[in-house]
Amino acid sequence: MLIYTKIADLRGFLKEIKSLNQSVGFVPTMGALHNGHISLIEASKKACNITICCIFVNPTQFNDKADLERYPRMPEKDAEFLKNAGCHALFMPTVSEVYPNTTTENFDFDFLDKTLEGKHRPGHFNGVAQVVKRLFEIVEPTKAFFGEKDFQQVMIVKALVKQMGSEIEIISCPILREADGLAMSSRNALLTKNEREIAGLVPKIMNAAKKLIHENGIAEAKLFIQKEVAKISIMKLDYFEVCNAENLKTVTDVNSTKTAIALIAIYVGKIRLIDNLPIN
Ligand code: PAJ
Repeated sequence: MLIYTKIADLRGFLKEIKSLNQSVGFVPTMGALHNGHISLIEASKKACNITICCIFVNPTQFNDKADLERYPRMPEKDAEFLKNAGCHALFMPTVSEVYPNTTTENFDFDFLDKTLEGKHRPGHFNGVAQVVKRLFEIVEPTKAFFGEKDFQQVMIVKALVKQMGSEIEIISCPILREADGLAMSSRNALLTKNEREIAGLVPKIMNAAKKLIHENGIAEAKLFIQKEVAKISIMKLDYFEVCNAENLKTVTDVNSTKTAIALIAIYVGKIRLIDNLPIN
């Protein structure tokens, strides 16, 4: 596997690839890789000739400084993991390589960046859009792969390529879960043994809420989630919402939309986890 830290060197490689008319699949990540990330690499390898992964802990998308500081970093282990997965190239730039000047670009995605994660993490999606746009301009991939674990992020990235007038195809990939149902996440590595066990309750209460939504409606399911979370002292609910998966508008009657999705953000100790579950 080729490893690049400089844009100029990566561009040299890309020029060669593109002159051979090879398609380029791109998987942007922030590292601390797990099998969820690797599933994106596999999807890219299936769909494209060459797969490029990026590891960059993007400071502009962290609204909480402590979260940025504690974000897990393990570049050597990640590189080994990617090599074994058959990834062709890894781009690991420094902050000054990605952001040579400090001007920030301001994006507007109408309602999409004002709700859920956008509302609870001010500036988060502006930072995501900023880095994804920059990386897309550097790599110019044929297709880029994103996980549905970050459901709202996929919608933002699709809106971004439209705004950019870009032809990059955005492919969304299913959530990979641990044996107990917990969605794989780099942040899971920060949980203590006890917190990790408790985090396993998140997919369980989500599934129970889905059943309740169909039996007794969304309001009942919301109360159920609040009650379940209140039972555990180290859990704190940030939000639980049922939305139309096409526009993220809140849904109050599940029969009124064909594409409802439940989305949750919850703290287990100091660690904030997100997950989602299609309802119909
Ligand atoms: P990161 O959290 O490292 O995730 C990188 C990609 O892996 C994202 O598209 C995310 O949705 C996907 N992913 C994470 N966990 C997954 C799981 N359990 N199953 C399937 N896919 C999963 O998301 C980011 O980084 C950043 O915001 C980024 C897009 C790289 C911009 O900085």
